[in-house]
Amino acid sequence: VREWLNGLTVAGIVEHDPTHATYWLPAEHAASLTEAAGPENLARMMQLIPLLAGVEQDIVRCFRDGGGVGYEAFPRFHELMAADSRAVHDAGLLDLVVPMVPGLHESLTAGARLADIGCGSGHAINLLARAYPASGFVGYDFSEEVVTAARTEASEWGLTNAEFVLQDVAELQLPDSFDFATAFDAIHDQAHPARVLANIAAALKPGGTFLMVDIQASSHVEQNAEIPWSAFLYTVSLMHCMTVSLSLDGDGLGTVWGRETAVRMLGEAGFSEVDVRNVETDPFNSFYIARKA
Ligand SMILES: C[S@@+](CC[C@H](N)C(=O)[O-])C[C@H]1O[C@@H](n2cnc3c(N)ncnc32)[C@H](O)[C@@H]1O
Repeated sequence: VREWLNGLTVAGIVEHDPTHATYWLPAEHAASLTEAAGPENLARMMQLIPLLAGVEQDIVRCFRDGGGVGYEAFPRFHELMAADSRAVHDAGLLDLVVPMVPGLHESLTAGARLADIGCGSGHAINLLARAYPASGFVGYDFSEEVVTAARTEASEWGLTNAEFVLQDVAELQLPDSFDFATAFDAIHDQAHPARVLANIAAALKPGGTFLMVDIQASSHVEQNAEIPWSAFLYTVSLMHCMTVSLSLDGDGLGTVWGRETAVRMLGEAGFSEVDVRNVETDPFNSFYIARKA
């Protein structure tokens, strides 16, 4: 280890105090390698690498034989996803994302109903429920692990307006029930994304708004060169998002389904006026604001 650290010192990657045999990273690395860095913390995201490496041989087998690798093969996925979402939502959900959606802050202040599709560990819903006590919030997910985590946080925060339902959203049948719907990174890995988008449109009241937050990418490969981390996102796509969808005999869109396909599918599901934005606290995603026609 010492030899390796000495090599890093010579390369200028770590600093070294030989008198005390102490090595440390330059202080400015804290801006991208600590929890204090919030959504910029690359150390948190890099934990995905060993998770993905763990299924490499399964992915190779699927390339030869077909099929996909299911969520159960990624033991820490929900935990890592929850940590990442917590950092991103704490940094920007209430201050940047809510004000960006026309009428959302005003409606939630007065009292409205919002559904979060593929809610994961529920932090977005819980933050919204705490900030807007006059409104009702429901998170849907088909993983028992995350629904339990979401309910635990809601109960620890004493929330009475946040509910979490174990539900396959491809089977969601709740016509005209919500004023708003959100989906944070939860459409591209669906087995049946077109059906899910149609179910979301049906669940909204006429004129309702859907905020779909999904990976920033283009269907035109050359445009992805402009997008930060596109090679990493292709890797996550290939070794997680696409394959979990294929494991359920799904479409396998993956993270890089692209803005063009996303806008087309939102239109086909019955949404109009799709506005696509970016938010500085969430470098990986595009924000699609879509109104039910
Ligand atoms: C990438 S995670 C995002 C979770 C959460 N929205 C977040 O931002 O932390 C995708 C989530 O969608 C859920 N999911 C995928 N397919 C689903 C389905 N058909 N019905 C319900 N939940 C689904 C997964 O269990 C997972 O929690």
